[in-house]
Amino acid sequence: MTDKLFLTTLKGKKSKQTPIWIMRQAGRYLKEYRAIREIQKDFISFCLNPQQAATVTLQPITRYNMDAAIIFSDILMVLWAMGLNVRFKPGIGPLLDAAEKPDMIKTSCLNGFADKLAPVGRALELTKLELPAETSLIGFAGAPWTLVTYIAEGGSSRDFTKARLWAWQDAKKLNGLLEILVEATVSFLSLQATAGAECLMIFDSWASAVPAAHRDWLITKPINEIIKGVRRNGHKQPIIGFPKGLGDGLIHYAEESGIDAIGIDHGVDPRWADKNLPKNLPVQGNLDPVSLISAGKKMFQDIDYILESFHDRPHIFNLGHGITPSTPIDNVQTMIDHIRNS
Ligand code: CP3
Repeated sequence: MTDKLFLTTLKGKKSKQTPIWIMRQAGRYLKEYRAIREIQKDFISFCLNPQQAATVTLQPITRYNMDAAIIFSDILMVLWAMGLNVRFKPGIGPLLDAAEKPDMIKTSCLNGFADKLAPVGRALELTKLELPAETSLIGFAGAPWTLVTYIAEGGSSRDFTKARLWAWQDAKKLNGLLEILVEATVSFLSLQATAGAECLMIFDSWASAVPAAHRDWLITKPINEIIKGVRRNGHKQPIIGFPKGLGDGLIHYAEESGIDAIGIDHGVDPRWADKNLPKNLPVQGNLDPVSLISAGKKMFQDIDYILESFHDRPHIFNLGHGITPSTPIDNVQTMIDHIRNS
């Protein structure tokens, strides 16, 4: 087997080259993505169409030769497969049937769960057939807390009041819901690992909403249980955790969650991260996605600062969050050229 730069870095080996991929790399900033989206208006059907999902997964690889491909899917597919009536409305975003109380979601939601998500496995298999030998394939899921925010609010939210209220008022019931979500996520990640994902990533996009005193039971413990479950199922793929907006909480998360690598957002000073995170833990991140819209000198300075900060640590270059739809496609190439020529 070829030594893949992305995977060797995840295993803790620092190479001369820094591997690169970007969150939401298959998405609306690409005209080839928009062309398929034009034909496939329903986002869920898109995610469940193995051929279309594989095609868009490969688009940024063909265009930019990224070191990793991330399967085209969505963290909310887990809630869709649990029967929560997830849909994506253009201009609004995701909507689903909100639960009044956390115990309204029952274990029976998981009946037939893996079968409903089997097309994601098929998409991974199809992608693998076309992927260049040096490119790695990433499978992913949302973290339980982030899924809870969507269940409580019925969609995206600004301040997550209802989800946080559950933590204060309905802790026992919320714990029960977290257990169901852990089971679902173990199943979804295991399915992707079996289908050929070489790395798994867990997105905790709204970790920032959790009060510090509650991080352990709402963030760290569910992640740790997911990782133990995936390992119990015999899967050895490295697992990247991305607890967005966790700030100083990254230290405890890195030490206790059991993740093999950590994604950091652009609110984190890379030099702080290098100084404070466990020695040799691979770090992924963390250029502000908005810097790519104008590119230019300031962007190069920021890239250099990130690369220098992780000079002595395994590092995967990425943005601090998903690329925005208005990003000019040439600027992505400019960023990649700068990193690869550094
Ligand atoms: O990164 C990739 O290229 C792989 C695919 C991927 C998507 N969503 C496709 C998508 C991944 C890894 C995600 C993760 C995801 N989805 C997260 C976690 C990461 C993050 O951004 O914090 C979250 C919170 C979601 C939920 C979600 N999906 C929202 C809130 C939205 C609507 C907002 C938006 O950007 O339109 C989506 C839709 C979505 N997921 C799109 C894509 C490409 C845009 C859909 C479109 O084409 O109209």
